[in-house]
Amino acid sequence: MDTATLAAAGTIQASKIYGSGDTEVRALDDVTVSFDQGQFTAIMGPSGSGKSTLMHCLAGLDRLTSGHVMVGETNISQLSEKDLTLLRRTKIGFVFQAFNLIPTLTAIENITLPLDLGRNTPDQELLDEVVEAVGLADRLKHKPNELSGGQQQRVAVARALASRPDVIFADEPTGNLDSQTGAEILEFMRRAVNEFGQTIVMVTHDPNAAAYADRVLFLADGKIVDELHDPTTDSILTALRGG
Ligand SMILES: Nc1ncnc2c1ncn2[C@@H]1O[C@H](COP(=O)(O)OP(=O)(O)OP(=O)(O)O)[C@@H](O)[C@H]1O
Ligand SMILES: [Mg+2]
Repeated sequence: MDTATLAAAGTIQASKIYGSGDTEVRALDDVTVSFDQGQFTAIMGPSGSGKSTLMHCLAGLDRLTSGHVMVGETNISQLSEKDLTLLRRTKIGFVFQAFNLIPTLTAIENITLPLDLGRNTPDQELLDEVVEAVGLADRLKHKPNELSGGQQQRVAVARALASRPDVIFADEPTGNLDSQTGAEILEFMRRAVNEFGQTIVMVTHDPNAAAYADRVLFLADGKIVDELHDPTTDSILTALRGG
């Protein structure tokens, strides 16, 4: 049986197939991996290797073809949509590759939306810190279409961090950012892990960004093909070149 576990220590062993027959794509081909609580994992791999699919399945945004996902003690594959939504809202922060901001809301409204939906009051100190870390203090009243791509990305990052969720999934959170803003966000994420025991899974193409993680997983064709612990930019570059 395939198993996928996450958050408070767990294992994923899962397959995800899109389409059928000639158009069948094995986006996750019997992937097995553990995510420990308080661990920062980076996921690297070529375009189409299954990185986003893996994160969507872990976060319960997409259903597996076979296997199941555990969040802590909860088997999320068996949850109703309603319970799944509640779990995502309370335990999980997600930075989407396409940001997924609400166009009619301002930056700050987007950032606090998950909190508002869960009827939680934002922790103002944390909110200020997050807004500061992503460098958005003077853009909070702007709507997404009044922001640059990089600024929209920072709103998406802030939204994922602002409720201090147990687990943060971030799909290329620093992809469009200048290196200084990117470094500030990565340092903030590193602190979230070190100081608050949050679990982070981050997709990145950047070896410098991946070096902030405790571990790097390398995906190819829906399989994990390599894994590094306590990575450095150099060891990641070596692994990317095929060891
Ligand atoms: N909804 C879908 N329907 C059909 N095929 C899909 C769907 N989503 C993803 N795929 C396919 O699954 C494979 C893995 O896609 P995925 O988005 O996980 O790749 P990725 O590693 O995130 O790539 P990138 O670096 O370009 O974001 C690809 O071949 C992709 O075309
Ligand atoms: Mg992707």
